[in-house]
Amino acid sequence: MARRTSDSLAPVPSAASAAPEADGQGPRHVAIIMDGNGRWATMRGRPRLFGHHAGARRVREIVESCPDLGVKYLTIFAFSTENWKRTQVEVAGLMSLFRRYIIRESRQLRDEGVRVRFIGDRVRLDPKLVVLMDELEQMTSQNDLVHLTIALNYGGRDEVARATKRLAQDVARGVLNPDDVDEETLPKYLDTCVLPDPDLVIRTSGEARISNFLLWQSAYAEYEFVDTLWPDFTRAEFACLLSSYGTRDRRFGAVKA
Ligand code: FPP
Repeated sequence: MARRTSDSLAPVPSAASAAPEADGQGPRHVAIIMDGNGRWATMRGRPRLFGHHAGARRVREIVESCPDLGVKYLTIFAFSTENWKRTQVEVAGLMSLFRRYIIRESRQLRDEGVRVRFIGDRVRLDPKLVVLMDELEQMTSQNDLVHLTIALNYGGRDEVARATKRLAQDVARGVLNPDDVDEETLPKYLDTCVLPDPDLVIRTSGEARISNFLLWQSAYAEYEFVDTLWPDFTRAEFACLLSSYGTRDRRFGAVKA
């Protein structure tokens, strides 16, 4: 695991010069824990939701940078199963932000070749929001330039529990033989079943923990923890982290000859 401060990233190369795409050394799937919106707003004497709105603008910038930077899959943690513990005002504000994000950005995402998927448990979400999520998935389903996955009411443990329940139901129905349950079978029941595992997980805001994000899928991911608060996270810093990933020696438990 790597931990970086803003200083250790300096000088930040331009996004173009840091782009790892050309040599294929960059990560194909990047997952991001977008942390620090609240602190960013508080530092400015503003309500926490102000930070979340600034964070949403960063989402757009980072998604737009993916094709140039060679990132095919981007998965972002927007709302966790634990985030319901926040004040009612913040939760309602975040849900309203997600609704407005989908309404405002859907056409552009479609036209820019982004395929959007949502992971997480939809049961607790407002049905009107779920309709918008379904529509966005549907209207971008033919796209293949960038695969953007938004984790909304998502928790890694919850996902594994829901997957296990479905798997057990298949066993009970006689569709699945318990002897056939292995490391290849279980991921087919996860929300991420159509996605490759993340190569790189980035967390902003200086916290070095994974907070229940993609627990199964990140078993062999590389990690980058940066001090930058999410609303300050730029395309240039993103490019720098992708570039540094190219120097990692990923052995997946094996020894290189
Ligand atoms: C964590 O920062 C951030 C969140 C719980 C929300 C993430 C949401 C966004 C970036 C909004 C836009 C997302 C989409 C998909 C439009 P925090 O509030 O916990 O920050 P803190 O640790 O400084 O309090």
